[in-house]
Amino acid sequence: MNQKNKIDLLRGVYIFSEVSEKHLEEILSHCKEKNVNKHEVIVSENEKGDSMYLILDGEVKVSLVAEDGKEIILSTLRKGDFFGEMSLLDGEPRSANVIALTSSDLLELSRNDFLSEILSNKHIAGAVLKVLSRRLREANERILGLMSKDVFDRLAEYFQKEARIKGRELIDGSVVFERLPQSDIASIVGSSRETVTRAIKEMVDRGMIITSGKQIILKKNFQQLLIERHKERYG
Ligand code: CMP
Repeated sequence: MNQKNKIDLLRGVYIFSEVSEKHLEEILSHCKEKNVNKHEVIVSENEKGDSMYLILDGEVKVSLVAEDGKEIILSTLRKGDFFGEMSLLDGEPRSANVIALTSSDLLELSRNDFLSEILSNKHIAGAVLKVLSRRLREANERILGLMSKDVFDRLAEYFQKEARIKGRELIDGSVVFERLPQSDIASIVGSSRETVTRAIKEMVDRGMIITSGKQIILKKNFQQLLIERHKERYG
């Protein structure tokens, strides 16, 4: 990949979107390229953190392992996102594992370089704070969802978010996106693979989605059918 492409990709990283070309070149000169394979562990929970990562391409999962060995996926991050900043900011060990869901292209920035960028550029500092606030909001929403919604509703909410983030709209207004393996989906919505399989089947039977291999097509009237199911069940 040439320098120009890398600069373009770096500009696509949200926290650097307001940074000048010259400054991006300088940031790039401090970054180390890292290409990871699918399933590769990039960050391990409890390890000391010395650097943070910018995602130029690909998708990763942020996960924890519960006492019973079950994986809990806290979030999935993709092109334009960053991770590994928490332990640099608070000096504590890594808060979670970060594992590649697809082969991914990353840039690695050392603790000193990351902290000096934040301290010297208010746009970068502001953008980092904005992302951390958004992650806290998402975590709050997930806690609420886990405590008040059934698996079907949590799965519906997750599919709607995936469609919004990585979906492609079709002529009839439905949206197609590539789904993760069902075991990962179960770890995201806080359920078992079997329950997720049943919920997906119910969505298909109700005409809310069409499944085709790894693709999910979310029908245009998905939300309306979801509300109808709610009325049926809860009055
Ligand atoms: P760090 O603790 O250094 O290493 C693990 C990283 O996972 C962490 O920094 C964050 O970048 C990321 N992370 C942890 N929790 C969440 C979350 N709830 N949502 C998104 N990313 C997270």
